[in-house]
Amino acid sequence: MRGAKSFNTEDLVPEVGIAVGVRPGIVMFAPVVHEFRRRRLPHFVIHTAQHYSPNMDAQFFDDLELPAPDYRLRGVAKKRTHGGQTAVMLEGIERILLERRPCLFLVGGDANTNLAGALAARKLRISVGHVEAGERSHDWRMPEEHNRVVIDHISDFLFVTSERGVENLRREGVRGEIHIVGNPIVDASLQHLDLAMRKSDALRRFGLEPRRYAILTMHREENVDDDASLRRALEGVSAAAQELDLRVLFPAHPRTLKRLQEFGLLPWIASLPRVTTIEAVGYLDFLALLAKARLVFTDSGGVQQEACIHRVSCVTLRDNTEWIETLRIGANQLAGCDPQRILAAAHEADAAERNWPLPFGDGTAARQIAAISERIIAAHRAPPIGAGASRDLRIC
Ligand code: UD1
Ligand code: UDP
Repeated sequence: MRGAKSFNTEDLVPEVGIAVGVRPGIVMFAPVVHEFRRRRLPHFVIHTAQHYSPNMDAQFFDDLELPAPDYRLRGVAKKRTHGGQTAVMLEGIERILLERRPCLFLVGGDANTNLAGALAARKLRISVGHVEAGERSHDWRMPEEHNRVVIDHISDFLFVTSERGVENLRREGVRGEIHIVGNPIVDASLQHLDLAMRKSDALRRFGLEPRRYAILTMHREENVDDDASLRRALEGVSAAAQELDLRVLFPAHPRTLKRLQEFGLLPWIASLPRVTTIEAVGYLDFLALLAKARLVFTDSGGVQQEACIHRVSCVTLRDNTEWIETLRIGANQLAGCDPQRILAAAHEADAAERNWPLPFGDGTAARQIAAISERIIAAHRAPPIGAGASRDLRIC
């Protein structure tokens, strides 16, 4: 080890570390972990506990039939700033990596958890693999956009959803190897649909009839931390639901519930026509609700993709999206938080043909990521090529 600050290649062991921490990251890595287990690939999972409420965390491990993580960090929930959160996770992950010394560390998506994980591994000279690399909203207000750019530039292996991600990465001149694999969110969604339909009684619980309701999710800080944006978006969704004669079920992220409370909007939202607000639901309930909805209103990245996969028309409550292919194929309409735009977009979404092509891979992303990880581990096990030869890990 170099002065206890970073590893040499020969210090590392042939196993893979995985960072999860937020709801969409648990979904994304579920098929990957299942595939690692099937192949008996040595691995361990670090949960940063960025998300920690049972309906944002434990419920997902149950629904996705995942074993408990090997490590769970403490102290992140108390942090109130991006820097504070990232710093605690960076130190916590580093401590574990110093002990385990994996030859590859996987992070997925754009949350602070992934920035912390990628930085911790990079600084120790552990190879970093970024799942869902190359996505860009080009909206520099978003913390996620900063995270994506930094993670992609310090990753050795970039697992990309589609050709568009490759173009973004090439334009920016990233160093790592790029692999187009699709998105494991697709794998998870396709693999769990039957189970969700069999197990979830969410439609009955909330008194909903198939295709007679819309699902709403909102949690982006640009939207929900601003009183006016939050209120205007909700007004727009409620007006659209009245015109289209739909009910709206709003499983609200804890951040959004907190903001509604702080802004004194809870009584107002309770009286908003057609909108029923509930706490965020688990993965199987959400999948069942989404698959049978007529429309989706959302500012979520994952939900935009899932709506497209299950052929439910989507209205995105943002001015931009990473998933621009959903716009091109007519599966998604951008509406921001403006009530008039939301109304117009909802009509357009409702009228759309649902026979669009599916743009996020064929549900084999996890298998491809596992196969590439297996090769990285195998190369790491191989003896050095010869005296004086570079032992730095490079796989193509
Ligand atoms: C984070 C990610 C975002 C991702 C989202 C997925 C960053 C910068 N943001 O946003 O990219 O789309 O997760 O949902 O990493 N809270 C709870 N219980 C929980 C989790 C959060 O009560 O289990 C509340 C807390 O008050 C917390 C607030 O929600 O302060 C925000 O949580 P945080 O993880 O900071 O950001 P998200 O909005 O969840
Ligand atoms: N989701 C869920 N329950 C909910 C809302 C969302 O299970 O009440 C799932 C959804 O199916 C998707 C993921 O959470 O897989 C998306 O997470 P989120 O919207 O929080 O984050 P983003 O994708 O925007 O980063």
